[in-house]
This record gives sequence, C-alpha cells and structure tokens, in this order.
Amino acid sequence: MVALPVLPGAGEDDAPLLGPGADALQAELGTDLLGVLELERHSGATGEVARVPTPDGVPGNPRLRIVLLVGVGDQRPTDFRRAGAALARAVSDRGAVATSIPALDPAAGLEPFVVGTILGSFGFHWRSGEPERRPVGRVVLAGLDGVDDTALRRAVALGTAGWRARMLATVPSNLKTPAWLAEQAERIAAEQGLKVRIWDEKQLAAEGFGGIVGVGQAAAAPPRLIRLDYTPPKARRSTPTVVLVGKGITFDSGGLNIKPSQSMTSMKRDMTGGAVVLATMAALADVGCPVRVVGLVPAAENAISGSALRPGDVLRHYGGRTTEVTNTDAEGRLVLADGLAYAAAEIKPAALVDVATLTGGIKVALGQQVGGIFASHDALADALIAAGEAAGEPLWRFPLFAGYRDNLGSKVADADNAPKGPQAIMAALFLEPFTGDLPWAHLDIASVGDVPEDSFEWTQGPSGFGARLLLDWLGSADPLEGVA
Ligand code: BES
Ligand code: MN
Ligand code: ZN
Repeated sequence: MVALPVLPGAGEDDAPLLGPGADALQAELGTDLLGVLELERHSGATGEVARVPTPDGVPGNPRLRIVLLVGVGDQRPTDFRRAGAALARAVSDRGAVATSIPALDPAAGLEPFVVGTILGSFGFHWRSGEPERRPVGRVVLAGLDGVDDTALRRAVALGTAGWRARMLATVPSNLKTPAWLAEQAERIAAEQGLKVRIWDEKQLAAEGFGGIVGVGQAAAAPPRLIRLDYTPPKARRSTPTVVLVGKGITFDSGGLNIKPSQSMTSMKRDMTGGAVVLATMAALADVGCPVRVVGLVPAAENAISGSALRPGDVLRHYGGRTTEVTNTDAEGRLVLADGLAYAAAEIKPAALVDVATLTGGIKVALGQQVGGIFASHDALADALIAAGEAAGEPLWRFPLFAGYRDNLGSKVADADNAPKGPQAIMAALFLEPFTGDLPWAHLDIASVGDVPEDSFEWTQGPSGFGARLLLDWLGSADPLEGVA
C-alpha cells in the first residue's frame, strides 16, 4: 500500500492538494487522484482517510493494491501524530505501507508521525483465537534522504516507551505481581545496560520502608522496591541526577476501606506511574538523555486479608516520619512517601518527579484528557508542562495551597493519610514533607490513566500516559535548565 498526504485548502479554490510523490503515482496509475478527493469530499482534515483501490498495481510496483489519501490538517506536530495513528489503523493486517507523509516536514513531522503510527497500532490481549487485528508489518518512510538516523531512533524510542507503559498497565493483576514488575525491570536493565536493585519484603522491613511494607502486608504476593540507574555515556562527576518515582500498586482493592465494585474494575492499572517510570528508563539512552536518572518503583498490592492494614494503624516511613492511616484506600501516597524520602536522603537529586494514579479528585477536576501537575519549583513545572504539550500528553498545574496544610494534622502521627479537603491537593500536600525541599514535581495521572474510547494515538483501555512527556523532557539538551 501507499499513503499520500492530503493538504487542506492548498490547491485552487481552496481545494485540498496532494503531497510529495502524488504526481508520479498519478501518472503511473492513470487515475486522477485529485478527482478522487473531490468525489470523496476529502477535506484534508487531520486523520481523514480515503481508500483508492488499485487492483492492477503500477508498473514499478505490481503488488500495489490500495492507495490511501491521509489528511494532515495544519501540519503541526499534533496533526502528524494523528495522521500516523489514522494510517496505522487503516493499514492494520496489511504487510507493508510506504508513505511520504513525514517528508512534508521532517523536522516537525517525523517524530510525532512515527509515534502516532506505533501507538495507533497498539493491541494486547489473551484471547485464545487469532487477534482481531495485527499491526501493519512494515512502514516505509519515503523521501527522507538527508534525515539522520538519530531522529528516527528517538522517534521509535518515544513510541516504544508509550507502547511499553500501555502494555504493562494492561497486564492483569493475577500475572502482574510486584515480583513480576521487578522482573520486567531486570529485563530492561539487562537490555539497556542499566544498574538495577530490587528490595524484597524482608529487606524493605529491615531498612524501614514502612509505607511499602504496610500497604503490601495483606497480599499473597509480597511487595518490592525497584531501583534502576541510568548514567549518560558522557557523564562527569558534576553531571546532575534526576529521580523519578512511580506508583506501583499492582492492584488497588482499597484494602479494608474496600472500593465499590465499579471503581475496582480498572484497578489493575494503578501501577501506571510505575510503568511510566520503567518505560522511560528503558528509552533514556535512545533519546540521548544528558543527565543521570534514577527510577524508583515502590510496588505493592493493596489487598484484603487478616494481615491487612487497618484504619487507625500508624506507619513509620523511610527516614522516620509517621502516618496515621485513616483510610486504607489512600495507599498510593503511603508507598510514594517511602520512595521520595529514600530519594531525598540517599540520592539527593537535582530534581525529583513522581508519577501516580493518585486521586479520583484529579479526574473530577480535569476529565480524562489532561493530567494534573503540582510543583515546588516553577522552572521544573514549566519544563514538564512544555514537554507534555510537545509530546501530546498535556498537563495542567494545581496549587500546593498552604492554607490546607493544617488539615493533614493527626493526633497520633506526623500526618493523616486521608484528611478532609480537596483530594488531589491534599494528596500532594501529604507528599511534600518527604521531598526534602528539593525541586519537586508531582504528576497525578489518575485522570488520564484510562482511555474511554479509541481516539487518535490513544487506544481504549490503559493509557500508559506520561512516558512520552518524561522522555521529551529528559531527552532535551538541558532538562535542568533553570533548575540546577
Ligand atoms: N488508585 C486510586 C485513585 C484512582 C481513582 C485512580 C480513579 C484511577 C481512577 C487511589 O488509591 C485512591 O483510591 N484514592 C482515593 C483517596 C481517598 C480515599 C482519600 C480516592 O481518590 O478516592
Ligand atoms: Mn486506593
Ligand atoms: Zn490507588
């Protein structure tokens, strides 16, 4: 198959126009493709696809059976991403497609086009029969002479990271135990030459990770803490470190404060933050990340049994701060607190970023298309928001509003894990004292963890939201500009 771009309003009388390669193909086919556009009322809008059957092929390519005409709209990065995803859906189950779409503007279009093509093809299932659709076997990018390999490698890395995060979040919790997640991390480490350390439940208890141990203590599958270390090839002593912490709750039943069944069905993906951190770590080398990065994933199942955490229990976190657990369903912040405290005490990074499907409140506030960000540092917040915009994973900033801090008070511990007040803000304020005054950003992605229906590069189900934005940030020339 061949896919040609359609540019809206670029032709005579504002008619759409066909992009590079069209003239030669029209001549070979003897088909008036512009006429087809008119017949099909193709406007060139982003992602609009027309199929032109070419049963006889062309002399240069006798096996060409279908020509696709794909709208590219305003040709912004977003349009290329969406055109790529539309193309991927249109060519699923086919052997190969050649396209000149990114050749329209390789500088702006190559990366998002490739990302869209990869993610629009996403599928993952355990059906016993054949899959309903398979991704196209091969995508040939035409007309890119002079575009260097690093751009393509980066694009594939971004798309693959999105795919990996989505895949990890899709795996059901009967397979996806904390130990299984740790195995995935070990595989990534081996593939990518990262350092890896895994704490088991005994080591966690011995070293004072009371939040992770407490949340994980009811489950048959015990908790883990995962640490991956990336060092850039040109690292010097002075090369700064970024720490990423991802919530790795492999299933959230709510614990003794059990969730109603409707809210529980999607809770296999409560480790999306952890998946995002693992997928990001796996792609840092390919995006040329210039800083050291440590990825931490506190992984636990929030289960129910005779050994479950009880409302009123007091936990001691890494480093000594204590929490009264007034609601066992506010478990994410308990494991994140250990991760953040460990990072602040033992790694002392230049910046600390956590990613978590943390509160239903953020979903009420934002709906399902934009994630929440809280930050103690403006330049860090701005960099992440800009990266989200560029990567197609948008963020909206919320306040660490000091007036609500007093709500966190507990009669018996340093803080209450489920105080009154606005949920998403209270969760962020709960985490703040564990960050040791470091430049810190907290991404609450509970709003965007789940995609309600296929749209553009998003496929229905777990989203893996966040890996592309973190890689866009960490793959930039100076991720810590204005921060450290
Ligand atoms: N994992 C949930 C948050 C969540 C909700 C993620 C919806 C994805 C979709 C989290 O652990 C949770 O249960 N939070 C509670 C906190 C409350 C008990 C203070 C919530 O948001 O309701
Ligand atoms: Mn919960
Ligand atoms: Zn949770």
